[in-house]
Order: sequence, then C-alpha cells, then structure tokens
Amino acid sequence: MGKVKVWDGFIRGFHWLLVTALGVLYISGEEGWLELHFVTGYMLLALMLARLIWGVIGSETARLSKLINHPAKVVNALKGKEDRVGHNAAGSLMVVLFFVLILLQLVTGLFTTDDILVDGPLVQYVSYDLVELAGSIHHSNIDFIIAAIALHILAIIAYRFKGKNLIKTLLTGTAESSLQQPKMKAGWIAYIIFALLAAVLIFLWGMEPLSQLIA
Ligand code: HEM
Ligand code: HEM
Repeated sequence: MGKVKVWDGFIRGFHWLLVTALGVLYISGEEGWLELHFVTGYMLLALMLARLIWGVIGSETARLSKLINHPAKVVNALKGKEDRVGHNAAGSLMVVLFFVLILLQLVTGLFTTDDILVDGPLVQYVSYDLVELAGSIHHSNIDFIIAAIALHILAIIAYRFKGKNLIKTLLTGTAESSLQQPKMKAGWIAYIIFALLAAVLIFLWGMEPLSQLIA
C-alpha cells in the first residue's frame, strides 16, 4: 500500500464549484433573480466546457474515454469486485448522467424566456415553438438533476459504510492504494482554460446581466 494521487487540483475544484453553482442557479431560478441566474449560468457553462476539454487532454482519472465501460464491468463494480484508481465503472455512469443532465439544463436555459422581460441569449434566433420546448425541458429537467444528486449522495454514504472514504479522496486528492499511479497533469492548465472560456462567455452574453448585478 502506498499513497496514490487520484484527483488533480482541477477535478477537486471543479466538483465544489459545480455544487456551489448549481445551488446558486437553483435558488436564483426559483426566485426569479435572473441577472444572477444568467451570470452564474455562463460561469457554469465555461466550467463544464473546461471539464470536457480536460476530459480529453487532462489527467488519466479525468478522461472521458474511461467513463464508458462494458456493462459487465458496471455490474462487477456494483458487486464491489472491480478496483481501480478514479471513478469505477458504476461511478462513471453516474458522472456521464450528471454531465448530460447539466449540459441539457445549460443549453435549454440559453433558449428559455420568462415570457415577460428576460430572454436567454439564443431565444431571438429560433421559433417560438422551440423556445416553448426548451422552457418546458428547463423546468422539468431540474427534477432529474435533484434525483441524480440524491442518488449520488446515497452512493457515497453506502461506500462509506463499506469502508471506502471517497470524500476524503476528493478533498485531499490522494488515497492509499496498492494500484499503479495514474498519469496526472497539472490542474492549473484547466483553470486557465476555464478562465478564458468564462471571459469569452461573459463578454459575449454576460455584460448586461453582470452590469445590472453589480450596479
Ligand atoms: C450539487 C450536488 C452534486 C453534484 C452535481 C455532484 C457531481 C459530481 C460529479 C459530476 C462528479 C464527478 C467529478 C469528475 O470526474 O469531474 C462527482 C464526484 C464525486 N462527488 Fe459529487 N456532486 C454533488 C455533491 C456531492 C456531495 C455533497 C458530496 C459529498 C458529501 C459529493 C462527493 C463526491 C465524491 C466523493 C466524488 C468522487 C466519486 C468517485 O470516487 O468516483 N458530491 N460529483
Ligand atoms: C445548470 C444550469 C441551470 C440550472 C440548474 C437552472 C435552473 C433553473 C430553475 C430551477 C429555474 C426555475 C424554473 C421554474 O420556475 O420552474 C430556472 C428558470 C430560468 N432559467 Fe435556468 N438554470 C440553469 C441555467 C440557465 C441558463 C444558462 C440560462 C440562460 C442564460 C437560464 C435561463 C433561465 C430563465 C430565463 C428562467 C426563467 C423561466 C421562467 O420564468 O419561466 N438558466 N432555471
């Protein structure tokens, strides 16, 4: 047994920024604080895009290609038989589900209107029917996101009872393991990609809500 680096600095930061952003987006959406909703939405879109890019060029444990596994491996993981550093095959399915649901929420948001004053930035380019459809997906998909979060937290608690402290690994980035050290990349590269994407999105769509927010 030795210390193995599992999560780079970006994956760790990404996770808690994602949790924070979703909290802000949920409350601001429900309360109708749409300037805050939009600015946070663009930041989260930049964060998710940076995570997807990191999934191609980043550390081995961040790779998107590792997230798709044969169903037999998922069953093995659920039985506790599979061991690897990073997301196991069942956890990987959960991650894919999160990415799909969150991206769907972000993209439909761009086409959603409050029917009074505020339009998502892409509403003007599409038909009213499409805006209606995007709005209804935006309203219902949030329930699937909440269900996925509940399942995610239950799974983490279940692993804790089985003696695996996944939260500690996510906080410290390291775990005790006899398995081989995965190839890691420096997380700051991904933070720079995130900052650049956030700057582009804020410049493109976020100047108006941001100026109203800080005025
Ligand atoms: C808004 C709520 C949450 C969302 C949307 C969420 C989403 C995610 C995602 C997408 C990942 C994969 C990270 C990646 O590869 O980039 C992940 C991993 C993880 N999350 Fe969360 N999470 C949430 C809340 C929590 C909470 C409250 C905890 C702890 C109590 C937690 C503990 C973990 C752990 C330990 C992992 C690593 C799992 C593994 O070892 O495979 N998450 N989460
Ligand atoms: C993952 C990211 C997002 C989450 C979790 C989220 C969540 C929500 C929630 C919970 C509501 C309230 C829905 C309701 O009243 O039933 C809402 C409304 C809204 N969202 Fe989002 N949203 C996200 C991203 C975005 C983005 C990126 C935009 C556009 C830039 C956007 C535009 C809107 C608009 C215009 C409304 C008001 C709809 C209305 O009043 O009927 N959202 N969002």
